[in-house]
Amino acid sequence: MKMINYTECGLPDNPVYVTELGRAYLGDSLELMKCLPNESVNLVLTSPPFALTSKKEYGNKDAGEYVDWFLPFASEIRRILAEDGSFVLDLGGTYLPGHPVRSIYQYELLIALVRKVGFYLAQEFFHYNPARLPAPAEWVNVRRIRVKDSVNVVWWLSRTEYPKANNRNVLRPYTEAMKKLLKKGYRAKKRPSGHDITHKFSQNNNGSIPPNLLELGNNDSNSNYMRECKKNGINPHPARFPRKFPEFFIKFLTDTGNLVVDPFAGSNTTGYVSEYLGRQWLAFEIEESYIQASHFRFGLDSYHHEIADDDKDAESQLKLFSGSDNYGDS
Ligand SMILES: C[S@@+](CC[C@H](N)C(=O)[O-])C[C@H]1O[C@@H](n2cnc3c(N)ncnc32)[C@H](O)[C@@H]1O
Repeated sequence: MKMINYTECGLPDNPVYVTELGRAYLGDSLELMKCLPNESVNLVLTSPPFALTSKKEYGNKDAGEYVDWFLPFASEIRRILAEDGSFVLDLGGTYLPGHPVRSIYQYELLIALVRKVGFYLAQEFFHYNPARLPAPAEWVNVRRIRVKDSVNVVWWLSRTEYPKANNRNVLRPYTEAMKKLLKKGYRAKKRPSGHDITHKFSQNNNGSIPPNLLELGNNDSNSNYMRECKKNGINPHPARFPRKFPEFFIKFLTDTGNLVVDPFAGSNTTGYVSEYLGRQWLAFEIEESYIQASHFRFGLDSYHHEIADDDKDAESQLKLFSGSDNYGDS
């Protein structure tokens, strides 16, 4: 793997911490990204503060000013992306203050990113969190005129029409029904929809192609990060990615040794997952306490413990449905 020379690439020599494959910086990512050379990054994966009606502790922007606030970051991101690089942007929705109607800021932003900054929309994803609590209470619980909002939009953007991507790296295990069908074989026929299902359907491809709906709860309550935050009396970041979110896109869109950047790193889930998938990474975060605490993620063997915990997923899902550890709104 060709290691990046960070001093040569112009980043300041004062990271908050360094790991084998990455560096975490405290600062405004708009300034820090300016230090990076053109076309030097393979994937920018991030979740910025959303335009929320009820503000989080780290200051969210108003929906009205969101596009103007974000565009300078977007231009820098496009500049630093390799030609076949990708920009994955996770955004939650919001209601207009005092009204049971939604802001369309994520869609306005998407249009500006394509029309003004020059990105392509490679594909849109929907990030479904079954554990999201019903809100706002007034519309959902009291008047009962809206339902639970449980998805974030995820814009997968690129500089060209053919960003590097390989869905073979993110195949899902076959269902029991599919396994049976593969064993028995499938008789080619036309479906009522008109689709011609050929014998190729019964070919074993080692897993099924995932949809663009990613169902991911947050079950990191037992992670090194959570344990150490608790031990040190630190509030964990309120809007952490579930580990499997960056995992999906890093496997799908990058190769070993590639560089992944998260300009709104928070608790640095992106850097943590990158490290353990063998990708180089940079994390930029403006709040000192968040970036300091994110170092806990890199405890000995913590990733392997978390993967082992996946086996207990069914149990965790039950806990999630009772709303015990929510992946909050950003
Ligand atoms: C939604 S959170 C990201 C959470 C992250 N995905 C995780 O897994 O922990 C957004 C973060 O962006 C940070 N932020 C806001 N403006 C920033 C800026 N200009 N530069 C760097 N970080 C910024 C906030 O402090 C906040 O922690």
